[in-house]
Amino acid sequence: MAILATPAGWARVTLGRAGAYDPAGTLADAEKAGAWTAWKRIAGRTSPEGLIGEVEAAGLRGRGGAGFPAARKWRACRGTEATQRYVVANGYEADPGAFADRLLMETDPHAVVEGAALAAWAIGATKAIVAVKADYRHAATRLRTAVAGAEAAGYLGTGALDGLVDLHVEVRELQGAYLLGEETALLHALEGKRGMPDQRPPYPATSGLFGRPTLVHNVETLATLPWIVANGAKAFAAIGSTGNSGTKLVQLAGAVAHPGVAEVPLGVTLGELLEQVGGGAAGRGGLKAILVGGPAGGLLPPASLDLRLEFEALAGAGAIMGSGSIVAADTTACVVDLGRTLARYCAEEACGKSIPCRIGLRRLVEIADRFVDGHGRPTDPQLLADLASDVIDSGLCNHERRAPNPLLTGMRYFGEEYDAHIREGRCPAGVCRPVAVAAVTASRKATRPHG
Ligand SMILES: Cc1cc2nc3c(=O)[nH]c(=O)nc-3n(C[C@H](O)[C@H](O)[C@H](O)COP(=O)(O)O)c2cc1C
Ligand code: SF4
Repeated sequence: MAILATPAGWARVTLGRAGAYDPAGTLADAEKAGAWTAWKRIAGRTSPEGLIGEVEAAGLRGRGGAGFPAARKWRACRGTEATQRYVVANGYEADPGAFADRLLMETDPHAVVEGAALAAWAIGATKAIVAVKADYRHAATRLRTAVAGAEAAGYLGTGALDGLVDLHVEVRELQGAYLLGEETALLHALEGKRGMPDQRPPYPATSGLFGRPTLVHNVETLATLPWIVANGAKAFAAIGSTGNSGTKLVQLAGAVAHPGVAEVPLGVTLGELLEQVGGGAAGRGGLKAILVGGPAGGLLPPASLDLRLEFEALAGAGAIMGSGSIVAADTTACVVDLGRTLARYCAEEACGKSIPCRIGLRRLVEIADRFVDGHGRPTDPQLLADLASDVIDSGLCNHERRAPNPLLTGMRYFGEEYDAHIREGRCPAGVCRPVAVAAVTASRKATRPHG
């Protein structure tokens, strides 16, 4: 997993310490690189409200996909009367094409643990859990080493920081499917229950783990906190664009010259990302499509290279920030086939708890199958759009709201390719073999009068 070089002048926040210390090494080594400075300076010594105000002034939004303002969640959590509050660091990284959280946890585990500690102190929690996908064994080991080092130094535990703070941090490995990354499913799994989402509201901030106020944040969101404390809200807000401050970890994959993880300021264009970080499109015939946001993201055309990496701009184009995964496809790819593959993944990963999602996504896949197999009907595009809009409006969690994205954006931006499949039984990229065979068979039949 390479950390990609970014142009001079692009700030590094979350990966600022990557490579500056041995993540499997001693606490002293990590401290030399700046770890735990923020925690020792403010925890128990300043007002928690001051830190919440800093996070608000920084304009920090959640990096787990939806971009919800962090300070609003913190206030809801702190403002809910409770004998126990929790912080849960979401390091599950559900998206199969994502690996930035893993890289972050493996290269700077102290930033994640210190960030979780800062958030816990601000909301008045005495317990924080870092939830990691069970496959991420190195990440879990390094996080545990970081926690053990901080405990041994008296930074964490009962009566930590010379009796100023009580805070226990636990690292938990979870085994599950895609849906486990969703916050309510994650909390169920941490409670030892089946990892299925729940209706929200109530949101975890007021009723989460074991019914207690719980601040769930992506590990990247939490890892920015030591930097914000050290450098100030103003410095963070100065990075990125208005309403989208700071940086975002993205992973570039597919038909790019340099695949890997990069930290980029929010507000850069997709074109800048592909050219200046990914080294430009690779593969055959040039860039055809960019999948932005993971399996439930949007399939965007090269004309979208001017689009900014911002939460609302991406949503407006039919994509999502999601995991920050960006996959480039060259002209050998068929968008109709890609859309079908992604829709199938989303349908298979749906947990089945709500009927419109469970049945609706499968019906969408059936329509997409018809396109690929050469049996598309002229009425199918409208049927797909109507069904997608019903599915989007009626599910329990955000999965059904996003799952139709690849098909909807595919039809929106690559209409000619869909038309060729549906009306002519032709796959312009030559990927959908059955379509080509169907077209040949149809043309043979047409030339044989008694065929
Ligand atoms: C299907 C689905 C999968 C998700 N997977 C993840 C994930 O792997 N990691 C993550 O941090 N958030 C994931 N989320 C978002 C979480 O529900 C939640 O919003 C997030 O962890 C909050 O963190 P943030 O405030 O830092 O964004 C997922 C959401 C959905 C609907
Ligand atoms: S919307 Fe889909 S994924 Fe979400 S809870 Fe319902 S069935 Fe499960």
